[in-house]
Amino acid sequence: MRKTFLVTGGTGFIGNCFCKLLLAERPDDKVINVDVCTYAANPSTIREELKNPNYKFYKTDIRNREEIYKIFEEEKPDTVVNFAAESHVDRSILDPEAFLTTNILGTAVLMDACRKYGIDRYHQVSTDEVYGDLPLDRPDLFFHEDTPLHTSSPYSTSKASADLLVLAYYRTYGLPVTISRCSNNYGPYQFPEKLIPLMISKASHDESLPVYGEGLNVRDWLYVKDHCYGILAVIEKGRIGEVYNLGGHNERNNLYIVKRILTELGKPESLITHVADRHGHDQRYAIDPAKAMAELGWQPTTTFEDGIKRTIEWYRENQWWLDECNASNREWLKKNYAERK
Ligand code: NAD
Ligand code: DAU
Repeated sequence: MRKTFLVTGGTGFIGNCFCKLLLAERPDDKVINVDVCTYAANPSTIREELKNPNYKFYKTDIRNREEIYKIFEEEKPDTVVNFAAESHVDRSILDPEAFLTTNILGTAVLMDACRKYGIDRYHQVSTDEVYGDLPLDRPDLFFHEDTPLHTSSPYSTSKASADLLVLAYYRTYGLPVTISRCSNNYGPYQFPEKLIPLMISKASHDESLPVYGEGLNVRDWLYVKDHCYGILAVIEKGRIGEVYNLGGHNERNNLYIVKRILTELGKPESLITHVADRHGHDQRYAIDPAKAMAELGWQPTTTFEDGIKRTIEWYRENQWWLDECNASNREWLKKNYAERK
C-alpha cells in the first residue's frame, strides 16, 4: 500500500539525503518535506526533488502547532521522521534559545500531532552527543545505547531533552516511537559551518583553516547516505520504544581531517591556524553500532577514504552551492571566528 512519509528538516543536509533515498528506494510512496528554511537550508538543495510528483514541500515551522496540525489533516502521514533542528554546537554556545524552542518544543508539537491524527511510526533523529564525550586515552570505550546521557553543550542538551520527551510519549501515551543516535556525518550538501565543508571551502579560496585548540579532538565519521539507510532500517525493522546507535568505527582527529582535505586539494599545511578552543569541547565520540547491525542487518558501505574523496569532489564541482551558502553566512563566520583570535 502507498505510504506517506512526513520528513521535517528535509531541506537540510541529512533530511534532504533521506528524502532523495526515499524517492529512489520507495518510488510508490509519497514524501512530504516540512522545513521552515533557516539560514542552514539553501533552497537550491531541493531543486531536483521539487520536480518529482511524489514530493511535496511545506515551508513551515515545526513550532507552529496550528500549521503543523493542518498539514497532518491534509496529508495524513503514516510515518513521521524528525530531522528538523538547530544543529550547530558553536551557535548553541553563543545563543541557545532557538535550540530549546525548535529541538524540544518543536518535537513536542510534532508528537502531539501524531497523537491527534494517528500515525504508524514517529522516528526521532538524534545524535551521539547526548552521551557526552569519552577520554582520548581510553580507545577501548564506546557509546552504547544504555550509556547514561551526560551532555556538554546547549545543543546536545536540547537533543537529549527531546529524546527523553520521545520516550515519555511512548511510555505515557503509547506513541509508536523509535530513536536513532548517529555520529558525525559528512557528504554533499552539508552547510559550510561544519568542519569538513568549512575547511574545503576555506582551502579552495586559500584562506586560513581555523582548527580549535590543538586539533586532537576525535569524531567518528559516517557517510551521510549510510546514515540514511540506517534510519530507514530502524523505521522498517526496529522495535518500537527502542534506541539504535548508528556509526561505522571511523574515528579520526580534526588535524587528520584538515590535512587530508589540504592534500586532496593540493594546498599547503601552512594554511592551518590554531585558534581558541570551543568552550566545553567534547574530546572524543565513538559509537558502538552492534545493536543496529545485529537486529537490523544494517551496516555502512562507504569507507572513509572513498567517502572523503567523493565529498571533496562534490564540493569542487558544486562551488556555486557553497557560494550561495557562504553569502548567507558571512555575519556568523565573522562573529564566531573574530572571537577566537
Ligand atoms: P541541518 O542544520 O543541515 O538541517 C536542519 C534543517 O532543519 C534545516 O533545513 C532547517 O531549515 C530545518 N529547521 C530548523 N529549525 C526548524 C523549525 N523550527 N521548523 C522546521 N524546520 C526547521 O542539520 P543536519 O546536519 O541535516 O541534521 C539533521 C538532524 O540530524 C538534526 O536533528 C541533528 O541533530 C541530527 N544529527 C546530525 C548529525 C550531523 O553530523 N550533521 C549527526 C547526528 C545527528
Ligand atoms: O556527533 C554528531 C554531531 O556532529 C551532530 O549532532 C551535530 O549536529 C554536528 O554539528 C556535529 O557536531 P560537532 O561539534 O562534532 O561538529 P563540527 O563540525 O561543528 O565540529 C567537528 C570538530 O571540528 C569539533 O571537534 C570542533 C572542530 N572544529 C569545528 C569547526 C567548525 C574546528 O576545529 N574548527 C572549526 O572551525
